[in-house]
This record gives sequence, C-alpha cells and structure tokens, in this order.
Amino acid sequence: MADRPPSLLWRFTREHLHRHWPLLLVALALMIIDGAAYAMFAGGVRSLIDDGLLAKSSSALRWVAIFVVALFVVRAVAAFSHRAILRVLGLKVVGELQVRLVAHLLGLDARFYQSHPPGELIERVRGDTTTLQQVITTAIMSLGRDSVSVVAMLAIIVYTDWVWALVVLVGGPLVVLPMAAVMARVRQATKRARASAADLTQTLDEIFHGHKSVRANNRQDHEASRSRLATEVYVGRQSWAEIGQAALPSMIDLMAGVGIAAVLLFGMQDVLSGEKTLGEFATFFAAIGLLFDPARRLSSVVGQLQVASASLERIYGLLAEQPHIVDTPNPQPLARPDGDVTFDDLHFSYAPDKPVLHGLSFTAPAGKMTAIVGPSGAGKSTLFNLLARFEEPDSGRILIGGQDTRDVSLADLRANLALVSQETALFNESLAYNIAYGADFQDARGIEAAAERAQVRSFQPDLETSAGPRGEALSGGQRQRVVIARAIMRQAPILLLDEATAALDSKTEQQIQAALKAASQGRTSLVIAHRLSTIKEADLIVVLEAGRVAESGTHDDLVAHEGAYWRLLQTQQTLA
Ligand SMILES: Nc1ncnc2c1ncn2[C@@H]1O[C@H](COP(=O)(O)OP(=O)(O)O)[C@@H](O)[C@H]1O
Ligand SMILES: [Mg+2]
Repeated sequence: MADRPPSLLWRFTREHLHRHWPLLLVALALMIIDGAAYAMFAGGVRSLIDDGLLAKSSSALRWVAIFVVALFVVRAVAAFSHRAILRVLGLKVVGELQVRLVAHLLGLDARFYQSHPPGELIERVRGDTTTLQQVITTAIMSLGRDSVSVVAMLAIIVYTDWVWALVVLVGGPLVVLPMAAVMARVRQATKRARASAADLTQTLDEIFHGHKSVRANNRQDHEASRSRLATEVYVGRQSWAEIGQAALPSMIDLMAGVGIAAVLLFGMQDVLSGEKTLGEFATFFAAIGLLFDPARRLSSVVGQLQVASASLERIYGLLAEQPHIVDTPNPQPLARPDGDVTFDDLHFSYAPDKPVLHGLSFTAPAGKMTAIVGPSGAGKSTLFNLLARFEEPDSGRILIGGQDTRDVSLADLRANLALVSQETALFNESLAYNIAYGADFQDARGIEAAAERAQVRSFQPDLETSAGPRGEALSGGQRQRVVIARAIMRQAPILLLDEATAALDSKTEQQIQAALKAASQGRTSLVIAHRLSTIKEADLIVVLEAGRVAESGTHDDLVAHEGAYWRLLQTQQTLA
C-alpha cells in the first residue's frame, strides 16, 4: 500500500491504457484541434473589434462571422469524435480490468473468501472500476483538450502584453497550498467512501440472499434500517469527497477574480494613454475569460485523479493478494487415484489456539464406501476441506494411493475428486447445465444417464428446467440429488459426500440413498452421514469425536462394541 498516487496511475497506464495507444493518439489529435479552435475564438475578438467594428468594415465583419461558424463546426466534429472515442475506450479498458480482476480472484483460496464477503468483492469489481472509468474518460479528455486551450490562451495573453499577463497571475500562488490540502482530503475521503460502498453492497447482498429469513423473522424494518444506516455512512463519506472536488474549481475562480481586478486597474491606464488598442484590451479579457473555463476543468481533473487513485489502490490491493495453497514447484499427476485414501496424524486449526483436528488417522479403503459420523462440530466437513486442499493441515499428511497429496497438482487432485458438500451452490441455469458442471456440457447422453441414476428424473423429467438463482427453485432433497448427479457425471474415482443435515421424509431418503449407491459404485467414497440409517451398509464406519477417531469398524462390529457409535444410534432411535 506504499504506492503513491502517481505511481498507481502510472502503473494503470502502463498495464491497461498503453496498449490502446493508436486510439489514444487519434483522440489526442482531435482534442488538440478542439482546444486550438477554442483558443482561436479569442483571437477572432481582436479582429472583430479593431478591423470590423472600429474600422466600420462590414466585409471584415462577414469574414469574422464565417470564421466563427467554421470554428464551431470544426469544434463540434472534433469534440464529438474524441468524446465518443474516449468513452468507448473507457468502457473497454475498465472491462479488461474487471475481467483481469475476476480471473485473479478465482485463483485465490478459501481463506481469502472468508475475510472478503461476496458483496465487498462485487463492489470492488463493479463499483471501483466504474469510478475509475468515469474518471479516466473525463480526465483524459480534460488533460488533452483543456491543456491545449490553456496553453493557447496563455500564449495569447502573453503575446498581447506580458506585463498584464504577470499581473493576472498574481492570485496564483495564493491558491497552491489550499489546493494541495484539498486534494489530499479528496483522496482520503474517497478511500473511506469506497470502503463504505463495499459495506453497503455487502449488506444488500446479505439481505437479498436472506430474504426469506428476514420475512420469517419479521425483520424487514430492522434490515431496512440496517441498509439505511449503511447508505447514510456511504452518503456522508462520499459527500466529503464531492465537496472537496467541488472546491477545487472555485479556487481557480478566486484566483481569477484577483487577477482580473488587478489587470483592470493596471491595464486600463495603457488603453487610456493610447498605448494599447481597445481590441487588444478586449482580446486579452476574452482570452482570460476563456482561459478560466478549461483551467477550472483541469483543476477538477486533479481531484478526479485523486478519486481514481483511491479506487486503484483498492483494485491493486486485490491484485496483490496471493493464494496460500499453491502447487509445489514440481507438481506430479495423481498416480493412483483409485488407491486407498489415508489420513495420517492430521493436526489442524482454522484459528490459532483453537485446534479442530488433533491427531486424526484412518484409511478409507480403495473402491469401498467409508462412512464418517460424529456429533456436529467434530471436524467431519473439515476433513473434506483438507482432502480437497481448500485448507492445509498444520501437520500430518493425506495420502492417496500412497502419494502425498501435497506433491500433486491442485488441478489434478481436484479433477479426481467429486465433492458433494453441504453448501454446494447451484447456478441459475438448467438442471442439465448444473449436472454437467465440471464435466462435458455437450454430453447429452451422459447428462440424462446421470440424472436417471441420481433420481433427478423422478422429480423433473425435463432437464432444461431452471434450478433458479442458487438453486432456490428446488427443494433441499432435490438440490442434493442434482449435486449427486453432477458427481456421477464427473466420473471422478473418489467421491466425497457431505450430506445435508435436513431431516428428509422417508421417500426422499430412499431416493437419495439409491442415488448415493449409484454414485458410489466402483469408487472410493467417503460419506459424511447424519442419518445413520443411510450408512448401515458402508464397508467401514469411522466415528469422529472432537477431532479424533473415537472408533471404527462395520455397523455390526460397532453395535456389538456398544461404544460411541452405539450411543449415537441410541439417540437417533429415541428421536425417531
Ligand atoms: N471456516 C471456518 N473458520 C473457523 N472455524 C471453522 C470453520 N469451519 C469450521 N470451523 C470450526 O471447526 C469445527 C469443526 O467444524 P466442521 O468440520 O464443520 O464440523 P462438522 O463435523 O459438523 O462437519 C467447528 O468447531 C467449527 O466451528
Ligand atoms: Mg459439517
């Protein structure tokens, strides 16, 4: 974050604007034409007065009129063209930045997403880059066109009378320090405003995703006021940024006032004494009048660049994030994906001093179904997170077919796992799309077969039906079957199923069980089960308690042993 604003802008120019240089060059040429035409208008004023009005020459006046029309036509065409080019360019460049950002974010791991909720990321990808787009478009335009105008006007002013020019600028130094102070303020305020924009989007994301919980708990008013609060914070902070930006052009006005008054007093003498013509005096003032508009715009560019820097700082902050779990320098393919899966003395904690797994060891035999049971919070889902390498163990190893999974490339490891987790999200697409996700979308036969085997067909024969946003058009049991169909479709040799806790009716349960059986055929499967009835037939049952294996064996063994499993069984039977 030590990057100073100029270096952020420079980096952005180099990485994103640079490659569009031919278009930028065309736009720049058009801006120069635009700015120069504007400046020539001031030159026309002297001719209008001295050659036309004072000389009482109507032909000169006609020429001046034609000249003015021509100037405005040139300006209109040039201005339209560079404006159109820059706006489209702004969209394009920011689109490229958004794509880059999304691709980068998708490479980051679970830890990152825990501390950066979706709303915040959406705001950064959409909001921060859009701010940048507006600023870049107007800033480049102003820099290109207005600086030409300003330089040309200054030239006219100095050419008319350099002493007057010096007098006009006496107000300049007065505004330099205040302007610098305001600029710093704008940047700071924008940074804070962008942060609260992210909070606001995050709040909205939560409210809209949780719309049912909100209404079920009669919390509409509460959520409305929560979003109002977030909005107010945003509006408050953004206001300071806007006020600061609004102040910058006015400082130019202050300077103008002082300068013009000084020249009026000073320059009038020269005209009265006949040293200067009235036309020269008028041109000088026309140039000053025309100077301050572009100068004002240029000064607001200064504020806009502060805004752009604040957004860039946040965007580059994200681009600087690196995944913690990455491939080893020499990743190997998974040699024996159909081998045993072994957990060897795993120790793990999400947060320091809060161990979740301590010394967990067991082997899930190849081609068999291993059930994992245990009380909530025992570390069952954590085990899957470690196996899929969403998290890294503090110590211990996970072996597949005797090979340490850390030596395997992440892509290859995950290609060999079909993970059906509790929070598996469905996409707002057809059932067929959701089933084929991770496999081949073109494989219509495979999709149908998977849907058939996972009992998706039994609740929805038409696979083109939409699953709804995040799968909301489906019931819990239906969603689960779609995800199982996906796992079947993946044909990965290792199946990981983290069963939803929701109590299901016995018919759905039977269907899911059938789906599960179909999915686990011929694969090494690890099934986290809450309803013990679903796993009676498992080849091995592992009971976890507080991050350790309490006992393991077949259903019959464990029942006979009357230990942890037996106690779990008792509670479920009393509940039923
Ligand atoms: N992302 C996380 N960050 C911090 N703690 C977590 C996270 N996920 C799970 N935990 C904690 O780890 C423990 C084990 O969780 P989990 O493996 O999900 O249990 P379960 O056996 O019910 O699947 C719990 O105490 C839980 O609070
Ligand atoms: Mg769990």
